[in-house]
Amino acid sequence: MTASKEVYEIGEAPPPGVVPPKMHAQLIRQSRYGEPRDAFVDEIVDIPSLGPREVLVYVMAAGINYSTVWASLGVPVDVVRGHKMAGKGGDATGFHIGGGDGSGIVYAVGEKVDNVKVGDHVVLHCGMWDEDDPFVLQSNDPMFSNTFRIWGYDSNWGSFAQFTRVQAHQCLPKPPHLSWEESAAFMLDGATAYRMLTGWPPHQVRENDVVLIWGGSGGLGSMAIQITKALGGIPIAVVSNAERGEYCLRLGARGFIDRTRFNHWGRLPDWRDEEATAKAVQGFRAFGRAVWEVLGERRNPRIIFEHPGEDTIPTSMFICDTGGMVVICAGTTGYNADVDLRYLWTRQKRFQGSHFANAEQAAAVNQLVHDGKLDPCLGKVFAYDEIGAVHQLLYENKHPNGNMAILIGAPKPGLK
Ligand SMILES: NC(=O)c1ccc[n+]([C@@H]2O[C@H](COP(=O)([O-])OP(=O)(O)OC[C@H]3O[C@@H](n4cnc5c(N)ncnc54)[C@H](OP(=O)(O)O)[C@@H]3O)[C@@H](O)[C@H]2O)c1
Repeated sequence: MTASKEVYEIGEAPPPGVVPPKMHAQLIRQSRYGEPRDAFVDEIVDIPSLGPREVLVYVMAAGINYSTVWASLGVPVDVVRGHKMAGKGGDATGFHIGGGDGSGIVYAVGEKVDNVKVGDHVVLHCGMWDEDDPFVLQSNDPMFSNTFRIWGYDSNWGSFAQFTRVQAHQCLPKPPHLSWEESAAFMLDGATAYRMLTGWPPHQVRENDVVLIWGGSGGLGSMAIQITKALGGIPIAVVSNAERGEYCLRLGARGFIDRTRFNHWGRLPDWRDEEATAKAVQGFRAFGRAVWEVLGERRNPRIIFEHPGEDTIPTSMFICDTGGMVVICAGTTGYNADVDLRYLWTRQKRFQGSHFANAEQAAAVNQLVHDGKLDPCLGKVFAYDEIGAVHQLLYENKHPNGNMAILIGAPKPGLK
């Protein structure tokens, strides 16, 4: 069947399997880089063609993540320029469609796709890689492949559009008990948190391990608290107000620390400046005591779940237990973080970078959600044309607890 229209309205689905030539999409262009509220404009663009292992998904709902804040700012990477330069996964359209989380219905598949078919209800994970890369073919972790890309950030054609183009392996079965918007909300943060907490042996969360989680009420933090708990660990959240702390308790945190009680944040002084160094250490020790107060015993976190970066790394590295790990997936407050190497080597701590997740880790998170062990923590649902405003909330740290989603194909919230 051919489409009766060149482009359908938002919320008006074409007949199943019928792909119109054009679609609505929220575009970021280089000329609009800046604060998220002004960076997105709804435009009509051609629907992309598919490669043999690719899938076209009609997006019912899209999840909101901080990565599109970075894309709209044009820092630390000019994503549109990156698309032009990139090999596989990139293109020269001159725009970026963000969105690294989504749920929807399969509308078309490439000729070599055999894991999904037209009509399937899917959630999408954001890991892309070349399945023909010899490194991937040798069963190495594709997250270490040079071909690895984040869909909707490193690559174009993310979920902020009526249709999105993904690699077939990005499609996982949608949890049937969840609405479209709940299904769209958890994968990027959930799978990232899962890899951070389970992917770096021997520092996988064990029974009774203390895990300190920065930004406990945020997208990553809300997932990390629940995953730590499900693995038998003791999550302790850091937040910036009591209301966020209470939310973390409801998710299973043992307790929370309000970081606004402290003021020792930021980069380390020069180690030769003994007075300033002693003052910084005082701040770290006071924060460490706050962890002990929550625990009711003098025990340091074996794993510290990091993403603020520059402001918090000196504290994280100091209070991490001997032989423990600080695992980090972002530098939201800055990229130059100081580490006092004396504590790193004498206490034999590990400082580990981590980035999204591989297919097994994404599937494991989807299974936790299917089994009802991980709640997507959907805080609020927005309309398609609120996309700039939603990202502005994230940018200003004024967003609601948990995760957020926007409706695209789904005409109203609550539909499954
Ligand atoms: N590499 C990856 O694969 C990957 C995946 C997902 C996300 N990320 C990145 O991880 C970061 C966090 O993502 P998210 O989705 O969790 O964002 P989010 O929902 O905005 O949560 C981040 C939390 O960080 C806390 N925070 C803000 N400023 C802080 C500071 N100066 N010190 C300590 N904590 C601070 C805030 O909580 P309080 O104010 O309550 O403390 C905020 O809720 C972003 O940069 C994102 O791009 C990376």
